[in-house]
Amino acid sequence: MNGKSLVSITDFSKENYLEILDLAKEFESRPNPDLFRGKVVGSLFFEPSTRTRLSFESAVTRMGGRIIGFTEASSSSVTKGETLYDTIKIVSNYCDLIVMRHAMEGSARYASEVASIPIINAGDGANQHPTQTMLDLYSIQKTQNKLENLNICLVGDLKYGRTVHSLLMAMSEFNSTFHFVSPKELKMPMVYKLFLENRGLKYEEHTEFNDIVKEADVIYMTRVQKERFSDPIEYEKTKNAYNLKKDMLKNAKPGMKILHPLPRVNEIHTEIDSTPQAYYFTQALNGVFARQAIIAKILGLK
Ligand code: CP
Repeated sequence: MNGKSLVSITDFSKENYLEILDLAKEFESRPNPDLFRGKVVGSLFFEPSTRTRLSFESAVTRMGGRIIGFTEASSSSVTKGETLYDTIKIVSNYCDLIVMRHAMEGSARYASEVASIPIINAGDGANQHPTQTMLDLYSIQKTQNKLENLNICLVGDLKYGRTVHSLLMAMSEFNSTFHFVSPKELKMPMVYKLFLENRGLKYEEHTEFNDIVKEADVIYMTRVQKERFSDPIEYEKTKNAYNLKKDMLKNAKPGMKILHPLPRVNEIHTEIDSTPQAYYFTQALNGVFARQAIIAKILGLK
């Protein structure tokens, strides 16, 4: 991993995932406040973010490093017409590593080909969100005490939700069984279903999920991604597709956990927040440890 970019979750191997999870656990239990001292991370957010950007900032500053960058394209010279190519070339001169979020699918791969330093993809359009996946794996491992042979239920916007695309690819290394629950307009794209079929993994597609709650080890809820719709009428049709409520959990397995990359809109009722199944706020905290571990591995810091 030393010196490598993390653009797609498949850039790293199963062994890499497990090494990152071990290191994240170590950072959670034994923080290393000086590990990033003298390191500068560039944070280029062309799209809005709360968790990803701030947990990267927290991860770097808690380890003694510095983070520089912009939180929206409008405060950068992109507004003057500067290209992504030039922006990456310039910021590469100032940092040891770049974390980038961009609306265009493939932008992070392009940046990694242009940059002289590693790129971490913090989300490229509807494509991939690999650091979210690392914190999701960490959360699943912590709550289920394993990653192998789990029944994973992905719910919501499976078409545009980049977090479910990355998570599916990573969990395919651990012999998961998948249930995909979405409106018919927002089904899991064929490319990801073929990815599973080529690995001999099972999945089922549903439009309702009341009946499959009892089978799930993890229910991974997602928001309908308003910003990816070209037609607002299509968004209106699907935006309230699911609303998880407490009474729907009565037949759930005792150890089942509800994850959500957040932000939520209305797909998880707030009455769920106080249930033992709710894990999404701790999941977001886990992002700090997972991102510390990813940065440490990529920068080759011990
Ligand atoms: N999970 C996630 O990517 O959240 P933000 O958009 O707030 O970064």
